[in-house]
Amino acid sequence: MSEITKNTEGSSAAPAAEDASAPHMPPVKPPMVQFKGILKKFGKVLAVEKTDLDIEEGSLVTLLGPSGCGKTTLLRMVAGLETPTEGDIFIKGKRINDVPIHQRNLGMIFQNYALFPHKSIYDNVAFGLKYRKIPKEEIREKVLRALEMVRLPGVEKRMPGQLSGGQQQRIALARAIVIEPDVLLMDEPLSALDENLREDMRREIDNLQQMLGVTTIFVTHDQREALSMSDKIVVMKNGKKQQEGVPEEVYNRPANHFVADFLGHSNFTSAVVQGREGNFVKVELETGNILLADAPGDWKEGEEVEVVVRAQRFEAMLQEEFSPDGQTNYFEGKIRDRSYMGGEVSYFIDMAGGKEVHVISMMRSRIYGIGNDVVVQVAPEHCHLLPLE
Ligand SMILES: Nc1ncnc2c1ncn2[C@@H]1O[C@H](COP(=O)(O)OP(=O)(O)OP(=O)(O)O)[C@@H](O)[C@H]1O
Ligand SMILES: [Mg+2]
Repeated sequence: MSEITKNTEGSSAAPAAEDASAPHMPPVKPPMVQFKGILKKFGKVLAVEKTDLDIEEGSLVTLLGPSGCGKTTLLRMVAGLETPTEGDIFIKGKRINDVPIHQRNLGMIFQNYALFPHKSIYDNVAFGLKYRKIPKEEIREKVLRALEMVRLPGVEKRMPGQLSGGQQQRIALARAIVIEPDVLLMDEPLSALDENLREDMRREIDNLQQMLGVTTIFVTHDQREALSMSDKIVVMKNGKKQQEGVPEEVYNRPANHFVADFLGHSNFTSAVVQGREGNFVKVELETGNILLADAPGDWKEGEEVEVVVRAQRFEAMLQEEFSPDGQTNYFEGKIRDRSYMGGEVSYFIDMAGGKEVHVISMMRSRIYGIGNDVVVQVAPEHCHLLPLE
C-alpha cells in the first residue's frame, strides 16, 4: 500500500476520486513542439548544439540571436527542410523526424519565401488547400475568410505584382494560416519591410496569432520584435541556447553577459562582493566606488562579479543640483557625448574613475549639454549581478 502506486503510469482506470484529490495537477498534455537533444552539423560546422526546447500549444515563441546562431536551422528542422544529425523532434507528442514535409501540417513564412508571381492572389492563398481533397466551394470560403483576416478582402483577382510589399507579406500570412496549421513557422518575415510597416505587421501577426491561437515559432534577430510579441523568448548564440523565458524575465534577469548585452543597452563593470547591507549585496566597483545591488542569490564575500545596469535605469542630474545627503549608488562624471533620438536622449558620460557610462534618459524636462558636470544614480533594484565569466 505504498504511496508510490498512486501515480502509476498508464493507469487509465484510476478511480476518479484520485484525480479529485490532486485538483492542482493539470492534465498531462505534450507540448505542441518538442526538441529533444537536437543537434545539427553541416559537415564540420556545428550549426545547432544539443538543444532541448518545449513549445506549448497556442504560444508564440521567438528564437532570438545574432546572424549565424542557428535560428533558421532549428526552424528548418521543424519544417522538414533539414534533418537533425542527432535527437528527435516531436509535434503533439509524435516523433516527426521521418515524416515528410507535406504531412506535417505547418504554415510557413520564410525570409525569401515569395508568392508565386504568375498566380493570382486567390490561387496563391488556395495553394496549400488544393492537395487536401477539399470541395471547391469550401476552398473558396476558406480563402476569402483568410483574406479578411489579414484585412485584404477583395484582392483575390489581382496578381502579386499589383500589391505593395507589406500587402504581399499579408498574403503570405493568409496562405500560411488558411490550411489551419498545427504550427506556424516564420523566419524573419518582417525584415524586408520599412520601420513603420514592420511595426504594423508585427501587431497584426501578434493579434492574428492570438485570435487563432496557433502555435507559432518566430525567428528574428530584432530584440524589439521578440520582446513585444513573445510568450517566450529563446536567446541563442553560436548554436547554443543561452536563456529561455518570458520577455520580462529575459530582459530583467539576463542569465549571462551575452543575453544582457544582446537585449537592451547595458553597462557592465567588474566588482568584488564585500558583504551584505540590509537586503542588498554590497560590492566594490573596479573604480573603487561602492554600490548596493538588490541581487537574489548566494554571493560570497571576495567573489568577483560583473555588475549590469541598463542605460535606461540611470538617472542623470546636474552636480550643482544634487544633494548627496543620505543618497547611495551615485557617481560623478562629465557628459562627453549626447544624441537626441526623438523621445529620449542618449548620453555617454566619462566617470571619475575612468569608466564610461551610457545613460538613456526619457525626455521629461530638459536636455543636458556636452561638458556638463553630472551625477548619475541608480536604484539597487536595477543593479544586476552576474558571476564573472
Ligand atoms: N546548408 C548549409 N551548409 C553549411 N553550413 C550551413 C548551412 N546552413 C547553415 N549553415 C551554417 O550553420 C550556422 C547557422 O546558420 P543559420 O542559418 O541557422 O543561422 P541564423 O541564426 O538563421 O542566421 P541569420 O540571422 O543570418 O539568418 C551558420 O554558421 C551557417 O553558416
Ligand atoms: Mg536565418
